[in-house]
Amino acid sequence: MTTPKPPAACLIGWPAAHSRSPLIHHYWLRTLGIAGGYVIEAVPPDDLRDFVLRLSLRGFVGANVTIPHKEAVLDLSAPDARARAVGAANTLWFEDGELRATNTDVEGFLDNLDASAPGWDKAEEALVLGAGGASRAVVFGLLERGFKRINLANRTLARAEALAAQFGPNVHPLAWDGINDVLPRARLLVNTTSLGMHGQGALEVDVARLPPEAVVADLVYVPLVTPLLAAARARGLRTADGLGMLLHQAVRGFELWFGRRPEVTAELRALVEADLTKT
Ligand code: ATR
Repeated sequence: MTTPKPPAACLIGWPAAHSRSPLIHHYWLRTLGIAGGYVIEAVPPDDLRDFVLRLSLRGFVGANVTIPHKEAVLDLSAPDARARAVGAANTLWFEDGELRATNTDVEGFLDNLDASAPGWDKAEEALVLGAGGASRAVVFGLLERGFKRINLANRTLARAEALAAQFGPNVHPLAWDGINDVLPRARLLVNTTSLGMHGQGALEVDVARLPPEAVVADLVYVPLVTPLLAAARARGLRTADGLGMLLHQAVRGFELWFGRRPEVTAELRALVEADLTKT
């Protein structure tokens, strides 16, 4: 009699991704008592098609996908509405034998705000900074939650305009120097740019101009408390940080692969925080 192999998922990237995902998924496997695995697979672009089409034959129940493959996997799978709208997928799983793809950044962003600032989505107007891939997930999530007006500021205005053209009339492109004018009406401010990250430029936004009930979210998680979040907290505003989004976006993949919905616990957060800050 042969013993069935425990289910395993992998992270597909190239070159070999440096990622906290193994730490997160191993923590959940361990604490939930599930026999399973999560490994990193370095897959060059030329091998992606073969790797993904033979994912199940290779013994995997699903995968995360990272740079540079997040767009290419859309053509190799059946993407859901979120992956299609964002134009990129980060999670693959099998449903009735079919390889499906989704983008869990959308719910990572939303679930993190739900956990960090309950009631945040009663607001109708948001200001989103940046118009790259991360911004698309954020904008799609805000539209799902019924935001009526999303001001979208980007250094390169044309990218904000392109995103607005795709997502419809509730999204209003804005030049970077127009930020100050809309801050007083922003009940939610989200930074999706790399500004404020270690080694990158500073994000110059005057949080004093935000209304007192505003919530501030930053997708940057190195440092854990960005200057934007520190300034918002000093003003007494509620905040949602980038590490929270990273942890919450991992929940759905685990649930799809291993059949149990895991929790983002303080213990998990501390574990990943320690890994981020180790020298
Ligand atoms: P991601 O997938 O993480 O969103 P991206 O697609 O490279 O990454 O987008 C990066 C975002 O950060 C963009 O909005 C970028 O602005 P541009 O579209 O003008 O490039 C923004 N960004 C990066 N560096 C910036 C800087 N120094 N000032 C303002 N915005 C910056």
